[in-house]
Amino acid sequence: MSHPIKTIAEVLAKVNDLPSLPTVAARINEETDKESLTSKSLAGIISQDVSLVTRVLKLANSAYYGMSRQVDTIDHAVTILGINTIKSLAMALSISGIFHDHHSDEIDMKGLWVHSLGCGVIARSLVAHSDQDLAEKAFLCGIIHDIGLIAIATIVPIEFAHTKELMNDFGVPQCEAEKQILGFSHAEMGGKMAEGWKFPEDYQEAIALHHCGKTNGSDHNSKILCNSVYLANKICKIKKLGVSVNPNYSKVSQSSLELVGINKDQMVRSTENAEADLHQLLMV
Ligand SMILES: [Fe+2]
Ligand SMILES: [Fe+2]
Repeated sequence: MSHPIKTIAEVLAKVNDLPSLPTVAARINEETDKESLTSKSLAGIISQDVSLVTRVLKLANSAYYGMSRQVDTIDHAVTILGINTIKSLAMALSISGIFHDHHSDEIDMKGLWVHSLGCGVIARSLVAHSDQDLAEKAFLCGIIHDIGLIAIATIVPIEFAHTKELMNDFGVPQCEAEKQILGFSHAEMGGKMAEGWKFPEDYQEAIALHHCGKTNGSDHNSKILCNSVYLANKICKIKKLGVSVNPNYSKVSQSSLELVGINKDQMVRSTENAEADLHQLLMV
């Protein structure tokens, strides 16, 4: 059991079984990567998916965004709420399809979606006081932080079940159990998937390091992004928002709060706001 039986590359090579980034999210990412995403092209991409249009408009008109008047077209929603807000909204709704479309005996997918969305809204709330653009990035990273779990549970389900046994029966920490059985963790797997999906490098890093909060680089915003997801993941577990594969958690460290640039009171307030946001989002 101590020898890795797969490598990330071997698992990634199983492309037919690997969760793919849904079309709308993939097209938005491509345009963002080419720096050619405009309000018009974003509205055009969303408009290709009728059910997504309905869901984006429903959310845009929900109490969550506190609009004073009805928004009835995607163009209008982009104008009123801004390109970054609608972009992350469309990405989040599009990515939720991965959680709905995959089944695993080992993962409560609905619970994992609530945990992931919760992590997204909390990460956004922790960063929102200082930088709105970075907050939207933190939202998306939070939503996809545990995506590696879905790939592992889908492609190597028996090994995934063994990692859970090691965690639950022998108290081995999650990433360590995964490394013992697989040779890599779900966090590293998620980082690789984000790379394949063409998410920017700072997203890949925040996902790959969401269990340790340490960054490889020295970029100030990357540190905030990475630690906001790290903290939000812990807070979701503490608050029991959704269902995580491993509900165990350690205390929130002062150094992570400092790296995000907040104190404990701000964290508590941000979390309360985010919890209210999550309940609004889940009602739509
Ligand atoms: Fe995780
Ligand atoms: Fe998580």
